[in-house]
Order: sequence, then C-alpha cells, then structure tokens
Amino acid sequence: MILVIDDDEAVTASLSLLLKQSGYASATAATPTEAIARIERDDVALVIQDMNFTRKTTGEEGLELLARIRRRAPDLPVILMTAWGSIELAVEGLKAGARDFITKPWTNGQILHAVGTALGVPGDPRAPSGEASGRRPTRADLAERYDLTGVTGESRTLVNAIDIAGRVAATDASILITGESGTGKEVLAEFVHQNSPRKERPLVRVNLGGVSSSLFDSELFGHVKGAFTDARTDRAGRFAEAEGGTILLDEIGELDPSGQVKMLRVLQDRAYTPLGSDRVRPMDVRVISATNRNLEEDIRSGRFREDLFYRLNLITVHLPALAERGDDLALLARHFVQTTRRTYGFPELTLDESAIRWLGTRRWPGNVRQLRHVIERAALIADSRHLTVQDFARAFDRTSERDAEDWVPPVGTMTVEEVEKTMILKSIAHHDGNLSRVAESLGLSRGALYRRLEKFGIEH
Ligand SMILES: Nc1ncnc2c1ncn2[C@@H]1O[C@H](COP(=O)(O)OP(=O)(O)O)[C@@H](O)[C@H]1O
Ligand SMILES: [Mg+2]
Repeated sequence: MILVIDDDEAVTASLSLLLKQSGYASATAATPTEAIARIERDDVALVIQDMNFTRKTTGEEGLELLARIRRRAPDLPVILMTAWGSIELAVEGLKAGARDFITKPWTNGQILHAVGTALGVPGDPRAPSGEASGRRPTRADLAERYDLTGVTGESRTLVNAIDIAGRVAATDASILITGESGTGKEVLAEFVHQNSPRKERPLVRVNLGGVSSSLFDSELFGHVKGAFTDARTDRAGRFAEAEGGTILLDEIGELDPSGQVKMLRVLQDRAYTPLGSDRVRPMDVRVISATNRNLEEDIRSGRFREDLFYRLNLITVHLPALAERGDDLALLARHFVQTTRRTYGFPELTLDESAIRWLGTRRWPGNVRQLRHVIERAALIADSRHLTVQDFARAFDRTSERDAEDWVPPVGTMTVEEVEKTMILKSIAHHDGNLSRVAESLGLSRGALYRRLEKFGIEH
C-alpha cells in the first residue's frame, strides 16, 4: 500500500482518492508518530509525505521524519511534498535519500507519474486497474452516507461523480465541477455544501459570466461608503456573504484576465480588501467552481491562468451528459412531472409510458435542464393532463412554434422593455437555456445578457 502522510485532511483525502481511482491501495497518517507505527505494522510500498506537521514551515519536521523512515526501512521509497518555492528544501530531502519530490499545488499527472516511477510500474501508470478496488458503491450505498436531497439519478456515471464529490465534501478542499450546460453543476455544488460542516452557513453563488470587470471588486469584495461616486453606504461583497460557508464561482471559465489575477490573489492570501477600505479581511470560505468550458484547453491557448486552475481544482468532478446516464432519463422525466404538478398546479398530471420511451430517442444538448423545460412546455400546451408522445412532439417542434409566433405587436400594446423581456425568454426556450447561444442570437455580450436577466428577474 501507499502511505500518505500529511496533517492537512484535504490533502490526504484528495490523494487517497486519486490513488484509489488509479487502482492503488493507500492509507493515511496525520502525524510522524502515526506514520512510523503504520510503517512498522503494515506492508507499505511507498511513502508520500508532507514537510510540515505543526505551524512551523521550515520543513525540519519533514526532514526528521524522512531520516526516521530511512533508518527503519532503507529501501522504502519516499516522495516529498513541498510548498511552492522551497526547492532548496526538496533538494536537501533528495540528498537525505528521498526518491522524488512534488510541489504543492500539484497536478494529478505529476503525482501519478512520480508514483509510477518510484514503484517501477511499467507502461502508463494512469491506466485503471479494473475492479481491483472492489465493488463500486450504488446510489443506495451513498444514500446511507450522504444527504442526497435534490439529486435524482442512479446511473453508474452519475453515482461515480457523487461518490467523488461526497468523499471530499466534508473537507475544505476546493472542487472544480465540469460538465456541459444543464448537467446539474449547481445541483452538485449544493450537494457538497449540504454534506459539509458548513451547511448551516450560506452557499453563495456568483455567476462570473455576468460580473462586468468594472463591478468585479465591489461585487465580490464589497465596498465602503464613499469608495466611488455612487457608493452611498457600505456594501458587503459575495465573499463576505459566504463567510463561514461556501462560495460557488459559477462559469469560472468566463473570467477575464484581470478577474483571474484578482481571484488568484484572494485564494492565495485567503483574504481580501473591500473597495476603498484599508483593512484586509481574512476569509473562511470553501471554494467550489464550475464551468462548461475545457479549462485545460483554455490554459494551453493562454485564455486561463494555470496557477489559478491549480488553486481551484484540488479535486475535479465531471458530470456526465444526460445521454451518458441511461435510465436516469426516465427517472428525471417522472421527477419533473411531479415538480410541474406542484409548481403549475396540475395535480392530476401524468406521463404516458410510450412518451418516456420516445423521450429516450431524442438528442439532449441542453441535458437535464432541457428535459425539464420540455416537460413543462408539454404540460402547458397539452390538451389533456395525460402527457403523450404527441404533446412532446409539439413541445419539441420549434419550427411551427416560430411561424405561429412570428408577429410584431400592435403599437401601444407593449413597452420596449416588455418586447425585450419577451424576446429574451423566447430565445432561452429556443436554445434550451444555453446562454452563450442566447446572447449570440440577441447580439448581446454575455455580461449584457446577464444584466438583463437580473433586471427582468429571469431565472437562469
Ligand atoms: N440530478 C438531478 N436531479 C434533479 N434535478 C436536476 C439534476 N441535475 C440537474 N437538475 C435540474 O436541471 C436544471 C439545471 O441544473 P443546473 O445545476 O443549473 O445545471 P448546470 O449548472 O450544469 O447548467 C435545474 O433545474 C436542476 O434543478
Ligand atoms: Mg449553471
């Protein structure tokens, strides 16, 4: 087994998870004493150890532990974890017999490469070793451990994502949630928050695609009275609102370069300064971010900062597209019929079995959100309260809908604002909530679209 030694639970939890996913058995220890006991008792094949176990950050304790391990088990390979910028310490460790070192924050690839090399594993060390790690948990297993309120689905792909998120939920590890639009990234963020010790405190969502760069500081960090012309009172920013709780940095991939720099600074310093204030506020906030972009690609093309990326994704959880969830589509369809009953006041709404099968044959680029919209639309246009294939076919058929609604209202019946709001709603329905396409079709920037969504109170 691989022994991971670190006093930071977020680190040991994420490393064990990564190792397990790659087919390695692992154990953790929080102190040098515990670590030595493990090494004497168990069959340890490799050690990955931190350099600091108390408030001291000199690395002395790490070197001491390394020396103790070397005395007890001279052949046992040791990989050191050191902080950014302490290359001297790492070199000292290598001289004292460590096999390798990695710097924090690391990439999963670096860790697995170092592990594979230290263990002399031939070929790609990242290749999964099949069922070696035993039976994968089912939804029922997870339901015993976690509060799954608000999460519908039992498919293997979804359960795997919840499993990973659940394991790190109780730590303060930063989590990056990836997945196409409408796959439930906010739902998963809520799951993490609900299953963390922070659940009594707020979960604050910030849509970074909608925050213009001129308002960024004030929105996120707040301002004091008089900081700028319109600042008549103090205003708490989103980080202050999230104090003690969790912040969801949604659409993190939309953040512009200056926003990325500011975000990196806050996450590094764990502190921020409200606009116009000279007092630095320390922060205690768990950070979850979400994006439907491929950030690795954005890093390669220079759109996204690599150092910020590593701050955000101690753990990455990928949500599968609806098409990869098998029978979840039927479960979700029934679930949305129920919620539609409640929200639209159709207590007798039912769903034909053949309609469920038909839904299973459709393409769902807008994923779960699109399914929800289609069911709501079908319920609104259906002739009876029993939803059939015909109702869904009509709900899907946007061409005829467009012809029928191709009109300009008579003068005096609508204000410009009403026309604007109607057009936005129509475009959202047409593009199944894909806001990039909505913005494009309306000739708006994403920021301009978000400001209108807020203004008209349109849920997004
Ligand atoms: N697993 C799920 N169970 C129930 N509802 C879900 C699930 N996943 C997504 N939804 C619903 O689908 C819609 C889109 O989810 P959201 O989390 O906003 O997606 P994303 O942030 O990935 O675009 C919301 O109405 C949400 O409640
Ligand atoms: Mg979202």
